[in-house]
Amino acid sequence: MKIYMTEDYQTMSRKAANILSAQIILKPTSVLGLATGSTPVGMYKQLVIWYEKGDLDFSAIKTVNLDEYVGLEPTHEQSYHHYMQENLFDHVNINPANTNVPDGLAADPQGECRWYNEVIHRLGGIDIQVLGMGHNGHIGFNEPGNAFELETHVVDLSERTIQANARFFDSMDDVPRQAMTMGIKSIMMAKKILLMVSGEDKADAVNRAFTGPVTPQMPASILQLHPYVTLVGDRAALSRLMENR
Ligand code: GLP
Repeated sequence: MKIYMTEDYQTMSRKAANILSAQIILKPTSVLGLATGSTPVGMYKQLVIWYEKGDLDFSAIKTVNLDEYVGLEPTHEQSYHHYMQENLFDHVNINPANTNVPDGLAADPQGECRWYNEVIHRLGGIDIQVLGMGHNGHIGFNEPGNAFELETHVVDLSERTIQANARFFDSMDDVPRQAMTMGIKSIMMAKKILLMVSGEDKADAVNRAFTGPVTPQMPASILQLHPYVTLVGDRAALSRLMENR
């Protein structure tokens, strides 16, 4: 695993954007696996800036997103569809037909997950998968205890994740209880992984993920077994891991 420790959130975002840019430039037809959450926002901003300068071309890029809430329409402010439009897709020359996010309103969420797996396979797999990480070590929405061997599937969100998401919704009742997420198997099949972490509140999870045992109780720990992981984090998130390695 390659680790880049940066001073702060901004330099972490720039480093991650560098890595993704290199992928886009070296292979303009890349399949990018994309993530949401607050962590990659700065990376997307940087990519848009470089696109506006004329340094990046998304016209042949394809994307597959990690996850989506069950029950939220694509235009809902808190849907990951909406997040991707706002943070990246609306600002670059990507072909909308080349972007993929599970449909939160699908009448049959399980069928939607099966279709999503087909999409990923038809694209020939993911060249680089961007990941953030939850406080309990979840990646995508693969919560502790979920099986490692699944591709895209429907999950019940943990109480901790529901609480963490509550700040984005008007009331507790509005917070989605389920999501569709690429499984650990889908993530592990990506050729490369770019894991981003920021902030002191992630330090313990990062440390456990990379110095502890590989176990479904700490989903990110599976990344110890992936042959090509780049971890980009700021000092606050990485310091504990660095002390223990
Ligand atoms: C959500 C997303 C994850 C993300 C995590 C951390 O659960 N499904 O993909 O990594 O939140 O979010 P943040 O980056 O806001 O800490």
